[in-house]
Amino acid sequence: MSQMPDNSHIKWQDYQIDATKRAAIKGHQSTVLWFTGLSGSGKSTVANALEQALVAKGIHTYLLDGDNVRHGLCADLGFSEADRTENLRRVGAVAGLMVDAGLLVLSAFISPYRSQRELVKSLVPAGKFLEIHIATPLAVCEQRDVKGLYKKARAGEIRQFTGISDPYEAPLAADLVINTAESTLEQSVEQLLALLTHNGIIT
Ligand code: ADX
Repeated sequence: MSQMPDNSHIKWQDYQIDATKRAAIKGHQSTVLWFTGLSGSGKSTVANALEQALVAKGIHTYLLDGDNVRHGLCADLGFSEADRTENLRRVGAVAGLMVDAGLLVLSAFISPYRSQRELVKSLVPAGKFLEIHIATPLAVCEQRDVKGLYKKARAGEIRQFTGISDPYEAPLAADLVINTAESTLEQSVEQLLALLTHNGIIT
């Protein structure tokens, strides 16, 4: 990425309508549910099932997905550490805007480095970030190999593949840990709904 420009003359413009007023219209709080885990761990599957349960309750959601944003917003980025950081910086900024808009944002990204997840957290309004570790073991993800990418990574056809030839730093204090090899999708959704209720996001 090119060097950051000098934006020191740009001030923040305040407006009268804020996240609290938008939440009052919607009848629920906004937050980011950040799903992190290996490729094939079940992040998208769990997020998809949770989103359906939330929408059935009348909650306004939006789902940001790693594969999908790389078709548009982040189509110019690869998988080096710097590119992954930029990918997550953009997604964090978007998620932050969506939280301000009053939405319950579900984000499914490998986000392999702790520092990258801290960066995202810093881009979201304070107290509006819940970290969900989809902690399905690598062996299970590799055996599932839904997209056939682990096979390619083992064969050296994909470089810097998380878990194979690139690191994954597990969260040290996630708000919830789910191992999709040990719990059903229904159980995972129930746990997540309980977490959201416990945190006063939904009733
Ligand atoms: S992140 O590291 O920047 O957070 P992101 O979640 O956006 O990753 O994208 C991960 C998806 O890209 C994976 O689910 C997989 O389908 C695909 N992918 C392609 N190449 C790689 C790679 N080298 N490492 C990990 N995932 C990859």
